[in-house]
Amino acid sequence: MTPREPLRPVGYDDAADRVRLLDQRKLPAVETWLELETAEQVADAIRTLAVRGAPAIGVAAAYGVAVEARRGASPERLREASRLIASARPTAVNLAWAVARMSRRLEAGPAALLAEAHAIRDEDEASCRRMGALGAPLLPRGARVLTHCNAGALATAGYGTALGLVRAAVEAGNPVTVFADETRPFFQGARLTAWELQRDGIPVTVLTDGMAGWLMQRGEISCVVVGSDRIAANGDVCNKIGTYALAVLARHHGLPFYVAAPWSTVDLATARGADIPIEERGADEVVRINGALIAPEGVPARYPAFDVTPAALVTAIVTERGVADGDLAAALRRLAGA
Ligand code: MRU
Repeated sequence: MTPREPLRPVGYDDAADRVRLLDQRKLPAVETWLELETAEQVADAIRTLAVRGAPAIGVAAAYGVAVEARRGASPERLREASRLIASARPTAVNLAWAVARMSRRLEAGPAALLAEAHAIRDEDEASCRRMGALGAPLLPRGARVLTHCNAGALATAGYGTALGLVRAAVEAGNPVTVFADETRPFFQGARLTAWELQRDGIPVTVLTDGMAGWLMQRGEISCVVVGSDRIAANGDVCNKIGTYALAVLARHHGLPFYVAAPWSTVDLATARGADIPIEERGADEVVRINGALIAPEGVPARYPAFDVTPAALVTAIVTERGVADGDLAAALRRLAGA
């Protein structure tokens, strides 16, 4: 098979001064790129999940600030644009982290701001590759990896966090296979994880969200590997709704539960998972699939978009700085100084 171009879902057209985003609302049916020129458009793309995944929204946010600067925005307008983008979604700390990093360069001018955004993108992909190298040895030969949501190239600048471990293992000759939870209601697993792994020739099987326990009971899963939107100082891990249930199941069945996330996802200023703001999205996203109602008209529905897995259920956290295990709070403190 001819190797495919690496998948990079967030980019910038330097000549036209436009932010380019692969529209993840449309995959896998249609591959279409959005070309954005304002902070409002970038914030809207983040809010509506055209771009999603903690590291990827951080990169998009940085480009959103840069595009305003390059199009001549005043310092005042740049500050307003930064606030607008930072508030597009509350849970993934990468968004606020990237905007804060851009804000520190606000006075440096448009060229410096664009260079900073490119650096955020390049560093994120490098971090993913480093996490892959550090984390791949955790996967036994022929591991059957269960993952949730999409923590792949599509959720990052490229390569992926959880799927970066899978990619690195496959590149090292380990014939790993993946089970992808469909991940209701946006179907990041069925639509995005399945699409990007199939594109790279990595075997993937889609499950509905309730199937994991049964497959674990039958010995068909080796370990769980997921990404994260924010990791608290005590090692509690926030990730896509449904992750906590998998961690409980993994513990019950004696399986390792691994988290892969760049250091930009670690929020030492947040003491514990209970302090992480959890995004609540509209009930309509739960009761409609592609516009079609799948529940009785008017029935209430809930959509907390994330949950928190207590540190005690996490076997290890793989970051580009190293692997945290054992006492996660102490391990994260050590890595903070690395
Ligand atoms: O709502 P989403 O699709 O942005 O949620 C994404 C996740 O929960 C991912 O698992 C997380 O951001 C890690 S991505 C490397």
